[in-house]
Amino acid sequence: MLKGKHVLLGVSGGIAVYKSLELISLLRKEGAIVKTIMTKSAMEFISPMTFKSISGETVSYSMFDENKPIEHISLADWADIFIIAPATANIIGKIASGVADDLLSTSILAGKATKIIVPTMNVFMYENKAVQRNLHILKDLGYIVLEPDTGHLACGYSGKGRFPDPKDILDAINVYSFFYVGDTPSKTFHGKRILVTAGASVEKIDPMRFISNRSSGKMGISLAKVAYLMGAKVTLIYSKVSEKIPYYIDAHSAETAVEMYNSVMDLESEHDIIIMCAAVADYTIEKPFTEKLKKGDDLTLNLVRTKDILYELGQKKTDEQVLVGFAAESENIIANAKAKLIKKNCSYIVANSLYTSGKEDTELTLISKNNEKQIKGPKLATACQLLSEIIV
Ligand SMILES: Cc1cc2nc3c(=O)[nH]c(=O)nc-3n(C[C@H](O)[C@H](O)[C@H](O)COP(=O)(O)O)c2cc1C
Repeated sequence: MLKGKHVLLGVSGGIAVYKSLELISLLRKEGAIVKTIMTKSAMEFISPMTFKSISGETVSYSMFDENKPIEHISLADWADIFIIAPATANIIGKIASGVADDLLSTSILAGKATKIIVPTMNVFMYENKAVQRNLHILKDLGYIVLEPDTGHLACGYSGKGRFPDPKDILDAINVYSFFYVGDTPSKTFHGKRILVTAGASVEKIDPMRFISNRSSGKMGISLAKVAYLMGAKVTLIYSKVSEKIPYYIDAHSAETAVEMYNSVMDLESEHDIIIMCAAVADYTIEKPFTEKLKKGDDLTLNLVRTKDILYELGQKKTDEQVLVGFAAESENIIANAKAKLIKKNCSYIVANSLYTSGKEDTELTLISKNNEKQIKGPKLATACQLLSEIIV
């Protein structure tokens, strides 16, 4: 999604500066071209040479370089995406009040790019009313603010203010570059409440063994990421997943089909859009063993039907709700999906082949009563397209 994109990375003087080097590597692997602007304080932590070596591009830090006249404008014009990560309380305050007293703060005022700010600081600095006010001002001015992670901080405290995992920042850049043209989003999901399920349910045979399936949860988690990053209030209910759930998602674990049924039914009425992406077992073990099974003669397990969550949601669905089911099939994919759309009273069915489970890329058909649309590509890009079709 980022091949050939111009990413201008602003680096201000936070202890997490070194983590933005990993972000540069990830961006370059996706084909982006990354130039860096450093503040004077950032250079106290790491030298420009390190950024130059990792990015293979220019690193700028001086307002008044006679060899590069009017660089604050040429860099701003060059950028498709302008991200400041880490963004200190100081640079946030300066941008919020329009102060332009160094190359970074001046360039970002001049830029028409998609602008992303990643605040990173001590938890008490982050919670400080002036910093929170400045972040609100930035959001009102059209800046995208990616909230920091929570956890152990370099200063020894624990709380909100951590630099996010660079992979989470990369995903956010990908999503925003899909939806934004310059500083204007093509749409926003603000005000939407979206429930997504993801992963493979786990039906216990005994305390150690279980029956499950190959779903990785990647598609559902991608949908939750995109929905959240574009402004929706998102709830994710997940079973066994092999994909990391980002820190900003409100995630609830539901391992078995029964737990999934109970969680979904508890929460469904609070959501406008429900996307059932989890691969929930159709059968469960009638009587799981309470102790670990010993090796012995051949064994027969009695399987009983689980409740059909999608069907029940279809029965309850209000006129305002949008219900999206997934149909993973090994044969007659479209015909089976169309039958499921009617039988389960869904607004949409997403038909896909079983054989994309766990893979990076996928190929889907979004089916509604009157329409069919094919979408393929990496799962995050596919999630962007799917949601932009579903959410009007
Ligand atoms: C060791 C150390 C770590 C710091 N870490 C942060 C930080 O994570 N976030 C922050 O907002 N300020 C941090 N500061 C304070 C900033 O460096 C200071 O506010 C500086 O003026 C920021 O300048 P700049 O925004 O131009 O880069 C730190 C300072 C020191 C000495």
